[in-house]
Amino acid sequence: MADHISVTQISNYIGQDIVLKGWLYNRTDKGKLAFLLVRDGTGFVQCVAFKGDLTPELFDTITHLPQESSIIITGSVREDKRAPGIPGGFEVGIKDLQVVQSADLDYPMALKDHGVDFALDHRHLWIRMQSQWAILRVRATVMAATREWLDNNGFIAMDTPIITPAAAEGTTTLFETEYFDEGKAYLAQTGQLYNEANIFAFGKVYCFGPTFRAEKSKTRRHLTEFWMLEPEIAFCDLDGLMEVEEQLISHIAARVLRDRSAELKFLGRDLSKLENIKAPFPRMSYDDAAKYLIELYEKETDPEKKDLLKFEWGMDFGAPHETELTKLYDKPVFVYGYPSAVKAFYMEPWPGRPEVCKSVDLLAPEGYGEICGGSERMSSHENLLARIHKEGLPEEAFQWYLDLRKYGSVPHSGFGMGTERVTTWMCGTEHVREAIAFPRTIKRVYP
Ligand code: 4AD
Ligand code: MG
Repeated sequence: MADHISVTQISNYIGQDIVLKGWLYNRTDKGKLAFLLVRDGTGFVQCVAFKGDLTPELFDTITHLPQESSIIITGSVREDKRAPGIPGGFEVGIKDLQVVQSADLDYPMALKDHGVDFALDHRHLWIRMQSQWAILRVRATVMAATREWLDNNGFIAMDTPIITPAAAEGTTTLFETEYFDEGKAYLAQTGQLYNEANIFAFGKVYCFGPTFRAEKSKTRRHLTEFWMLEPEIAFCDLDGLMEVEEQLISHIAARVLRDRSAELKFLGRDLSKLENIKAPFPRMSYDDAAKYLIELYEKETDPEKKDLLKFEWGMDFGAPHETELTKLYDKPVFVYGYPSAVKAFYMEPWPGRPEVCKSVDLLAPEGYGEICGGSERMSSHENLLARIHKEGLPEEAFQWYLDLRKYGSVPHSGFGMGTERVTTWMCGTEHVREAIAFPRTIKRVYP
């Protein structure tokens, strides 16, 4: 038997003595009573020290214990609906407390509001705070649910390289490095092209790893290092792809609701919004979306708003456009059939409309916007080669990729899902930087 229990197990120990190992998150002293909010990594629980139950020395130690001290508590569990904590509703009556380390008194992340730059400079400590802890727990569940659904639905996990010889999503956002005598190499922006090779060996695959974008975007949706899931499927067209996406996203939402409702409640998330996330999701063509946005633009009378909403067919959506489209539904919405000019080189042209491609973005509701981007891939060798030439891409670097269209080419499709964007949306928080433990943005590589 373990020598201690975790906060998540506490409901099984009502009326029993237990040992908890953790850290002092907060303390309120009320005369003969001290209320300790203790965290152990799995949750937060209220522990109560009553002077009459303890030696005077121990009660004195407890009432002088600095925030973040590491401690081992022995006590008895009782149910108390009012007791704070995550999940809350339980209280531990302290019988003994051992101090493992009494924390220095100058803890920088005292429990008050800190400016975001200060908090980010102290990210190594900030992640201990309830809100950040809750978001990162949701992230872990998003990732676990993602793998679970794919593994249970016939997908093979493949790891694609991080160090790559050429751009795959446009050349402007590459991190470059010298690679011995081979010249320049780049950090992967996507594993997609390698997964396109993988499907011809394994049928349905996914990679799930860090990707890198040297984008100068300073928005609340952009990181320079983020974790992308990328499924890729042989014998799959655009409709088949949308079905995979909506099944996966619905599964993630259901798992997060099942396993992380305490964290979401702490974050103030309206759970009914997540309960709506059930397949099928609405589908809208780019043409219809463009028509709607142009009407909105024309109707808008506020000059400032009008400027942001400016739209004409052929443009990519900006954040304000995505926000308007997501307002139409209480579920994520697929927008498909974008102009080829605003999308990557590898997308299959729309039959009979070469200016449009078989691409699809999934936009999350409540203004969260793009969470997945994908397409059917160009399957003809001739068309792909022509496109590579047209884009001025180095043909030699894509020789292996072109080979895939020579030896058993099939219609195939795939998409990428941004872990941090999905997590931010699930949590109802503002900025993707809080959805990863140590965010990398254009202004930040520390800590
Ligand atoms: O739309 P993107 O750029 O698509 C690709 O990279 C494709 N190769 C994926 C594929 O088809 N296999 O990126 C996919 C998703 C976006 O929808 C977004 O959720 C996320 O990755 N993403 C970012 N997340 C955080 N910070 C950034 N800078 C991101 N760029 C993309
Ligand atoms: Mg995209």
